[in-house]
Amino acid sequence: MQEKDLNNVEMIPYPKKRMRRLRRTEAMRTLLQEHAVTAQDLILPIFVEENATERTPIPSLPGVTRETEETLPTAVKAAYEAGIQSIILFGVSHNKDETGSDSLKADGLMARMISSARAAAPNMLIIADACFCEYTDHGHCGPINDKNLIDNDATLDNLAKQAVIAAQAGADIIAPSGMMDGMVAAIRHGLDTAGFEDIAILSYAAKFASHFYGPFRDAAGCALGHMASAPKTRDSYQMQPANSNEALREVALDIEEGADMIMVKPGLPYLDIIQRITDTYNIPVFAYHVSGEYAMLQAAAQNGWIDYDNALHEQMIAFKRAGCSAILTYGALDLLHFLKSKK
Ligand code: PBG
Repeated sequence: MQEKDLNNVEMIPYPKKRMRRLRRTEAMRTLLQEHAVTAQDLILPIFVEENATERTPIPSLPGVTRETEETLPTAVKAAYEAGIQSIILFGVSHNKDETGSDSLKADGLMARMISSARAAAPNMLIIADACFCEYTDHGHCGPINDKNLIDNDATLDNLAKQAVIAAQAGADIIAPSGMMDGMVAAIRHGLDTAGFEDIAILSYAAKFASHFYGPFRDAAGCALGHMASAPKTRDSYQMQPANSNEALREVALDIEEGADMIMVKPGLPYLDIIQRITDTYNIPVFAYHVSGEYAMLQAAAQNGWIDYDNALHEQMIAFKRAGCSAILTYGALDLLHFLKSKK
């Protein structure tokens, strides 16, 4: 491949070359804009609390509310009318056990919220979070074995079942987030065997054991540490933040296993990982702008230290620049309002 010789351009120096010519007016800057974020790039996460009678704000995620099962349809319709085309649903369960069995039931919370959202907005793209941490009493992403580790292979069998339940309820995309080895192959096999060969898999191939998940664990009620016997961290299954080559190996394996799309999580602190993946593989890559990233923006804005809308927009542009196809963010609705107000 012939490379563009950028050096040649640089060889025409000032004062003949003036880069500022290209920045002089708004029209010139708009014309030369390389990346943009639009409504169709955004995925809105929605929390749904079981047996709740009122919507409750989440203190560590200002602007985000837990819906009740009754208010979910209204929230989904409102999001669709505002221009959101994709959502991901997270359950706040009050029926937790050792394995997270509620999410394996056709009338469990996960299945109910997917079918309710599907009925409320038939054309909304619905992503199911394929994981167990919202449904286990210890908060881990699978059952714990006698070595006090999360049982990888038992979780795979459960994931295959959970994915089929989610597909039956009306999910368009199954997004496994538990960092189990073999999870994509297990889910693909489960879906295909049940006749859901057209349901896509968005794999959290590179999910890091991050401290930016704190507010989510408050929101979903899946904090670790309240059970003395269970591991206190997810370090034995999520990736360590220092590793980048390992992330590429995870992605390669998930593509082999049949992943249709890849997720990187968290987002901004791992922008280098996103860039390496988009440079290396020809597969759609999504970023999860996680709860802690969003909460930091909100906290700074509440102190008057930062302009929330513009800073959020700038962060989303960074994801697009790094090659992302889509972004999950708690700020999705705010960003849509902001984009409309700029027109
Ligand atoms: C677990 C899960 C987590 C998030 C979503 N699903 C994190 C975790 O506790 O490991 C975090 C998302 C966020 O922080 O916004 N499967």
